[in-house]
Amino acid sequence: MCLRRDLAVAVAFLHLSVLSGEPAAAGKVPALIVFGDSTVDTGNNNYLSTVVRSDFAPYGRDLQLGAGAGGGGRPTGRFSNGRLAVDFISEAFGLPPLVPPYLDPAVNMSSLAAGACFASAGAGYDNATSDLFSVLPLWKELDYFKEYAAKLRSFQGADAAEETLSAALYLVSMGTNDFLENYYAVPRGHAAEYGTPEAYGGYLLGVAESFVRALHALGARKVDLNGLPPMGCLPLERGAGGACTEEYNAVAERFNAGLQDVIARLNGELGGGARIVYGDVYGPVAAVLQDPAAYGIDNVKAGCCGVTGLFEMGYMCGARSPLTCTDASKFAFWDAIHPTERLHRAIADAKMNTTLYVFL
Ligand SMILES: *[C@@H]1O[C@H](CO)[C@@H](O)[C@H](O)[C@H]1NC(C)=O
Ligand SMILES: *[C@@H]1O[C@H](CO)[C@@H](O)[C@H](O)[C@H]1NC(C)=O
Ligand SMILES: *[C@@H]1O[C@H](CO)[C@@H](O)[C@H](O)[C@H]1NC(C)=O
Repeated sequence: MCLRRDLAVAVAFLHLSVLSGEPAAAGKVPALIVFGDSTVDTGNNNYLSTVVRSDFAPYGRDLQLGAGAGGGGRPTGRFSNGRLAVDFISEAFGLPPLVPPYLDPAVNMSSLAAGACFASAGAGYDNATSDLFSVLPLWKELDYFKEYAAKLRSFQGADAAEETLSAALYLVSMGTNDFLENYYAVPRGHAAEYGTPEAYGGYLLGVAESFVRALHALGARKVDLNGLPPMGCLPLERGAGGACTEEYNAVAERFNAGLQDVIARLNGELGGGARIVYGDVYGPVAAVLQDPAAYGIDNVKAGCCGVTGLFEMGYMCGARSPLTCTDASKFAFWDAIHPTERLHRAIADAKMNTTLYVFL
């Protein structure tokens, strides 16, 4: 009996939503809120004075507004030839095909109400990492989010804004820069003082945990906390003959295991219906690197842009490089560090299929 009543209610709701013309996915995740580094920054660094930027050609060369939308590319500050995984994820939730960067003065609240990106290329969990590049440290990303929440309350009204903020999906992705640009690159820096990558990783995990607790205190209930990629396989980090640097991959796997412990603890302790999921980036990237042909890719060792594809990024990938590849969809990496749109799409598809579908 009970089942039949639930069914009747469900059918009635279905009917109502059909009548009101709402897209089926619209109610569940009304907004995608993004924090992190260059793999998820949709253009905030364009508005900072930092050299870590990509608001020039050939970045964005293949950017289209959505699946099958066509149109020429344009540089937006995304570190890729096209869209990022967060853009595909937004679209998969029935939200806009491009997540707007919060710092873009041309973006209004009606756009930002469906998604806002606070990420900054070059950022890390460690303040000292972001300071190396004069980009947004994590506390500043969170400060901007608080400002956004206040604006959302004026725009939607307090109750509707609370509803949006608790139903939104919060995607958090960083940590690679902490290891590669800080711990391993700055021998006497703050990170190196930890002695071992495990000890430094422990510090970063503590920051990640506090960050999710802070988001929860501000109303977040659905959080996708992402792990590290196989960072020893980024073109810049590969060794002789293009072999992956296994030490970096091992560091990433240990960090990811720790992150999953943090997530289990948070799910046990945070109330209010909070659900934190582990965003697996390592698995999908490793799958592409192991069987690129299955994804139509034939080069996983060098980036598409620049002369060598082995170290160039940012300004060194300027439009004048004659050796930039013509078909980036055949490459896993766009520059020496950052995925092509093709790899971003594979990451987004895998995440939707294996974890994020729970929020659909
Ligand atoms: C907000 O921005 C969107 C996208 O640019 C635009 O379509 C819309 O008209 C703007 N709304 C207002 C109220 O300015
Ligand atoms: C980062 O810096 C901010 C501002 O100085 C400070 O409030 C915060 O505690 C620092 N975070 C960490 C993890 O040290
Ligand atoms: C995800 O699911 C879609 C639709 O079922 C499928 O086409 C795609 O191949 C899957 N992708 C991955 C990476 O599992």
